[in-house]
Amino acid sequence: MSGAAHDVAAMEASLVAVADAGVDVRHALFDRFFAVFPDRRASFMIVDASSRRMTDETLQMMLGLAKGEGWVWPLVAELVFTHRAYGPLPIAEYDAFIDMTVEELGTASGAGWSAAAAAAWRRQAEALKAMIRQARAEWESAMPVGTPQPAG
Ligand code: HEM
Repeated sequence: MSGAAHDVAAMEASLVAVADAGVDVRHALFDRFFAVFPDRRASFMIVDASSRRMTDETLQMMLGLAKGEGWVWPLVAELVFTHRAYGPLPIAEYDAFIDMTVEELGTASGAGWSAAAAAAWRRQAEALKAMIRQARAEWESAMPVGTPQPAG
């Protein structure tokens, strides 16, 4: 198995462990996110709906990156563009949300969490953070008006 295939296997094993445990990661994840960024709570009209999609898509993007899926880049580019509607989100909040997603997944998978899974998710988390930075930079140069500033 290649390094990427190892990542995919370890990541899928932890997703199965969380499904088996019957834990819905989004609850602890959003509680934590709002505890650290309380001002963001008001931006969410329907947390129940958005927390499902934000959590699921963040996990899918990381898994997609490990699999080398071509749809990840257009989805990330669209995400960064549509999230302009929620104000100029600092890049640190994207980073924090991604890190918290991985950490809460680890907590939820309990004994199913392995060093290999932790390393694989962290590796793909860094790849997703880099892709978000790239998308923001490209939008900023293509459409400067209203684009969140990279320093923000
Ligand atoms: C990798 C990171 C993220 C992903 C994949 C993601 C994905 C999504 C998705 C799929 C939606 C639902 C959009 C819809 O149904 O039309 C959403 C909504 C939203 N996201 Fe994110 N998001 C991310 C990070 C963030 C961050 C860091 C914030 C900062 C606060 C944020 C704030 C919001 C808000 C305010 C909404 C709308 C909620 C509502 O109207 O109820 N997102 N996001």
